[in-house]
Amino acid sequence: MMKIIRTKDYAELSEKVAELIAKEIRENEKPVIGLATGSTPVGAYQKLIEWYNEGKLDFSNVTTVNLDEYKGLPKDNDQSYWYFMHDNLFNHVNIRPENINLPDGTNEDADAECARYDAVVEGTGGVHIQLLGMGHNGHIAFNEPSDTFSRGTNCVALQQSTIDANKRFFASEADVPRFAYTMGIGTIMAAKKIVIAVNGRAKAETVKAAFTGPVTPRVPASILQFHPEVYVVLDEEAASLL
Ligand code: GLP
Repeated sequence: MMKIIRTKDYAELSEKVAELIAKEIRENEKPVIGLATGSTPVGAYQKLIEWYNEGKLDFSNVTTVNLDEYKGLPKDNDQSYWYFMHDNLFNHVNIRPENINLPDGTNEDADAECARYDAVVEGTGGVHIQLLGMGHNGHIAFNEPSDTFSRGTNCVALQQSTIDANKRFFASEADVPRFAYTMGIGTIMAAKKIVIAVNGRAKAETVKAAFTGPVTPRVPASILQFHPEVYVVLDEEAASLL
């Protein structure tokens, strides 16, 4: 089942995404929540923090697994996804530090790190809901367009378009890491529910290809059409070509 949810703007999109996540946190005794970075989920994280501050949400039993991390960046680097998640969510709610999981960008041994992270995700007993954003080229997490769909956590070379899209956060393009650890498409598809949020006119064409076009590893997000329970939350601009 793929449910397309059209919202009027970014604020409404953020609230909708936060609602889907909050529901899992409330309904499961030990919620396992898959989280994402990028600019798209920031508004949803702000909503979750707001509800936590109002006493409507409790993170004490929540376990999180994040999608990806730049290879080579230590946790205290302000561009690492570890830093981003703490800055935008974890530092503001009562999640236990030991329940927070991300790939370790400082592990030089890619095979070991990928195996370790697969075991971590499996060890949670299964993700109740996985949040995703989408790159301009249709990538999910850091799974770039390719000839095949990846299975488990893997070490990827970032495409130039992704480096260009993300360089706005770094001092210069040369500072953007060239490799990242990312959950595989297979791992992402194993989540019980998936919510993917996309906003802005710039992604409207990719939204159309991903959710109405053929399922192909050339548009990695298209695989979600085969998932049993996925919520595609769009603002008006991202939905404009549907
Ligand atoms: C990065 C992340 C993705 C994210 C994408 C889109 O590449 N690895 O998980 O979906 O950026 O980011 P934004 O939401 O800023 O457009």
